[in-house]
Amino acid sequence: MRKKVLLSGMQPSGETGMLHLGNYEGALKNWVRLQNSGKYEMYCCIVDWHSLTSNYKHTKNLTKRILNVAADYIASGLDPKKSTIFLQSLVKEHAELHLLLSMIVPVPWLERVPSYKQKSVELGLDSFGFLGYPLLMAADIMVYKGEVVPVGKDQAAHLEFTREVVRRFNSLYGELFPEPQPLWTEVPILPGTDGRKMSKSYNNHISLGDPQEIVRKKISSMFTDPSKIHRSDPGHPNRCPVYLLHKLYNPEYEKIYNPCVSGSTEWGCVKCKKLLTEHLLAFLDPIRKKREELLSDPGELMRILASGAEKAREKASATMREVRAAMHMLEAEL
Ligand code: AMP
Ligand code: TRP
Repeated sequence: MRKKVLLSGMQPSGETGMLHLGNYEGALKNWVRLQNSGKYEMYCCIVDWHSLTSNYKHTKNLTKRILNVAADYIASGLDPKKSTIFLQSLVKEHAELHLLLSMIVPVPWLERVPSYKQKSVELGLDSFGFLGYPLLMAADIMVYKGEVVPVGKDQAAHLEFTREVVRRFNSLYGELFPEPQPLWTEVPILPGTDGRKMSKSYNNHISLGDPQEIVRKKISSMFTDPSKIHRSDPGHPNRCPVYLLHKLYNPEYEKIYNPCVSGSTEWGCVKCKKLLTEHLLAFLDPIRKKREELLSDPGELMRILASGAEKAREKASATMREVRAAMHMLEAEL
């Protein structure tokens, strides 16, 4: 049976590019599961051009950020032998398709994408490139004729936009592209240390590469159920971000439910956080070791990204030949 083409990507954003538990639970873990199912032709991209749409000023540490994402991908279980792991900007076909699609996409389609409206005000972004963010994402997917896109629910509008672009291209030039299907992840939104969505921009995240002391500190200052002020107050585990993390990392999380709800004096939030820290570290320690090992040889990481790009380019350039033919572009025989 032919394998379905799966494409996904993450930005090397923030100060270091390091991915956090929200990225892992919401996206990466699912990619690893799908990779290991053997059912997909996997393309896992690091979308450095996308990161320039919001951060074009501070590019000095871009290489470091890219290498951190590559190390996080592999340390979390993506395997360059099973998945094509590559850097977007090394496959110029993404840019060519983006340009050609920009001819057929009305500007209002882009202006009404919710993330544009929201972030353009929030972050004061007004560049042409930022407006085109979803179109670049559409090009990332279409250039591989992507069929399945595993992302968090926050990407729903981008994926719907991609499907509209596919329909428009196909109706103008013939049926070339499949409409990509989203594959939502099991954990819709992972809370951060303050109970809001874990995100680098709220600075409430726990990174995959955080050293033990930092993880201890972050967990100890985590928000809990706001109505449990004294140890004897009855808690509401399902409203507590610490409990939500227990559910993911502590196989015996059910044991803490009753002591919390009953306000047992034997069991308080401090103890609960300490137990969570031990379970979380047991999960994070091997990932941190692996990523450090990988980062100690940046040359090897770069070779992985470049050889992934070479493989990706084979597929992308075949698609571009078809696109040019469909649009009757003159193709010089070299
Ligand atoms: P971002 O870092 O926001 O570009 O997100 C990269 C990927 O991680 C996307 O597929 C998001 O849906 C996912 N993601 C980011 N933050 C969270 C979170 N707190 N919970 C679940 N998924 C997340
Ligand atoms: N917009 C996605 C995010 O912020 C990143 C992304 C870019 C992407 N191109 C993609 C995701 C293609 C899936 C497929 O998470």
